[in-house]
Parts: sequence; structure tokens; C-alpha cells
Amino acid sequence: MNVQVPNLDSPRDFQGNPVTPGLPIAMLAEVTHRCPLSCPYCSNPLELVRGQAELSAAEWADVFRQAAALGVLQVHVSGGEPASRRDLTQIVAAARDAGLYVNLITSGLGLTLARLRELDEAGVDHVQLSLQGVGRDMADRIGGLSGSWDRKMQVARWVGEIGFPLTLNAVVHLQNMESLPEMIDLALDMGARRIEVATVQFHGWADLNRRALMPTREQAVFARKVVNEARERLRGRMVIDYVPADHHAQFPKACMGGWGSTGLNVTPDGTVLPCHAAQTIPQLQFDNVRDRALGDIWTNGTAFNAFRGTAWMPEPCASCDRKTVDFGGCRCQAMAIAGDPAVTDPVCSLSPLNADLHAQLDADAAAAAPDDLTYRRMGKQS
Ligand code: SF4
Ligand code: FES
Repeated sequence: MNVQVPNLDSPRDFQGNPVTPGLPIAMLAEVTHRCPLSCPYCSNPLELVRGQAELSAAEWADVFRQAAALGVLQVHVSGGEPASRRDLTQIVAAARDAGLYVNLITSGLGLTLARLRELDEAGVDHVQLSLQGVGRDMADRIGGLSGSWDRKMQVARWVGEIGFPLTLNAVVHLQNMESLPEMIDLALDMGARRIEVATVQFHGWADLNRRALMPTREQAVFARKVVNEARERLRGRMVIDYVPADHHAQFPKACMGGWGSTGLNVTPDGTVLPCHAAQTIPQLQFDNVRDRALGDIWTNGTAFNAFRGTAWMPEPCASCDRKTVDFGGCRCQAMAIAGDPAVTDPVCSLSPLNADLHAQLDADAAAAAPDDLTYRRMGKQS
């Protein structure tokens, strides 16, 4: 399919006025793609970056300084599993030296009490611990590693002992949605201040696993109910963030708060992306911090400008009141479903592709194959 993306050197709004990019607030720093787990919904690309190509700690320090100068306030140090880097403490210390708030996103695998204490000293402000499921069977099966549940629970205890503010990041899908109430209870038991209940986003690895992971409509309704009740019950005790299954919603989410508007992502080899899945859009070209200054990439990079503003939007978004609310939905989802990143997100009920999508969802549900999991691994091409 010969699909073009809007290539606006100077993005514009509907009146034709140039749009000036705002300042990014947050940066996702994927310091490595290496990981002892192999979750089948991993948000890393199918083509993973190998260890030899990773930015060094000194290069990351430079990226953090540039990010802070650009306006970034917080860095999410992620992966893969960031603890797979032996120099993680050095990387964290560099982020702190640059004046950034440091959130460590981890599965817990590879962390010891001693390492956590070093990371505390180095400047980790907050820990976000991923949850693959409740209990050994589900967590180890989805993470693809026997023993991972026990190790994660040990890390959670250490995190509490040190006193890091904690968010539990529960990824939900067809196979574990029923245990959402237990996930919320677990977060409470751990002393988490927040739980993020995030439905799997279906691009990259997760898209390969749609028939095994796509939640049903009934599950989406169930999750909404559980979240609403828990929010009421736990008001003032724990915050519950919820990323719904937007395939079953009326309107899409405002992915990234709008393309190139508030956040950016730097991959292990220094490639700078407007969102973590942007490399699923083959028409985009990405810059690298090894070749170009971060601020220049943010302001002038063609990938960042491709979907800024509103002039690029097709109908029905073009004449829709919500175009500055959800920005036409998720570009990567449009790519995954329609094969065209520049169309209205097909999960939107107003999209001309929405009926086809729902027919496909019904077909996928009828052919659901929970055991047919393609686990993330190095070297997977398709
Ligand atoms: Fe959002 Fe476009 Fe759907 Fe309107 S038509 S709700 S702007 S995705
Ligand atoms: Fe890329 Fe939504 S994940 S725009």
C-alpha cells in the first residue's frame, strides 16, 4: 500500500496558521531493550536494539542535560528492563544531576536490596512496578519466566522498606481482566500510592497476539465498573488511573496528549520518537541524538511535525468538535488497523472503518486462542 504521511515542515492548524510546538514535559528513556521477561504485549518494537548499540551512560547524561534545557521535567527510565544495565545507577545519577524527576519503570527482575539502596542514593524519586498477573501461574506464564512472581513480590517488599513512592502498573487483557479486583487489592497491600490499570495497546508485539489478548466487550464493561467502584471506595487512599480498551469505546484516547505536544521517547540507540510505537509507521524517518541536537529534533524533526497541528486531519476528524480533544486518536493504532497512519483512528465510532473493525473483533473473539502466545524476543521480524 502506498500511503503518505503529511510531511509538513511547518505544521498548521485549520485556519492555515503555523503551529509552534509546545515544550515537552516528560521523556521516556528506554535505556535498554534487554529484559529477562518476554511479555507478549511488550511495547518495544519487533526489531529490538541489541546491547552493543546502546547509548553509553555518558551519552545518556548528555541527553538528559539537553532534555532539561528543552523543558523536560521528568524522565521515565524504562526498557526492556532498565536493571539489565549494570550502569543503571550512573544513568539515574546523571538524570538527577540534570535536575530531572526520575521515575524508574521496572519489572523488578535484576534488582536487589543493595541495588535499590544505590538507586535511592543516586536519585530515583519514584518506582513503577509492572504486574503481569496476580499469582505465580498467571504472572510467570504471561511474563514468560518461571519464578518471576516470587522475585517481583520480594522487590515490592524492598521498595516499601526503602520508602520509594510506588505505582503498580497492571497491564490487563483477555487473560487476566477477571482478576482486576485482586490487582487493586494487591496494590493496596503493597502500599502503592497509585495503580495504573492499562489495557494492552495493540501494536507491535501485542498486535501479533490479538487473538490471545484482546479483551471482550463484556470485560471492558466489567473493568470500567470495577475501576469506578474502587475509585469511590479508595478516594484519598490510592489513585487509580485507567487506560480503557478503546477498541470497545465510543471515541479514541488522546494518545500522547497529542502527537509531538508533551512527550518524547529516546530508544536504547538514541533514536528519538514521538511515541513508543512510532517505529511501526514505516513512512516516518527518525533522527538520532548521536547526529542531531534533541531540541532541533523536537522542533524541526519531520517525524514530530508529521501529525502536529490539525491541518493534516482527514474527515470525519476535520469537521468534528473533538479534534482538539482526542486529536484524531492514536496514529500507531490507525497504522495497525488501517495500514494508514493518517486516517481517523478506526476505534472511533465515527470512523468509516469502525464497522469493519467491530466485525474483525467479533471474528477474533470467536477464534480466541489464549494459549497461542508469541513471546517477545530478540530477532523477531514479523
Ligand atoms: Fe476524535 Fe476524529 Fe473521532 Fe472526532 S472523528 S471523535 S476527532 S477520532
Ligand atoms: Fe503512537 Fe498512539 S502509540 S500515537
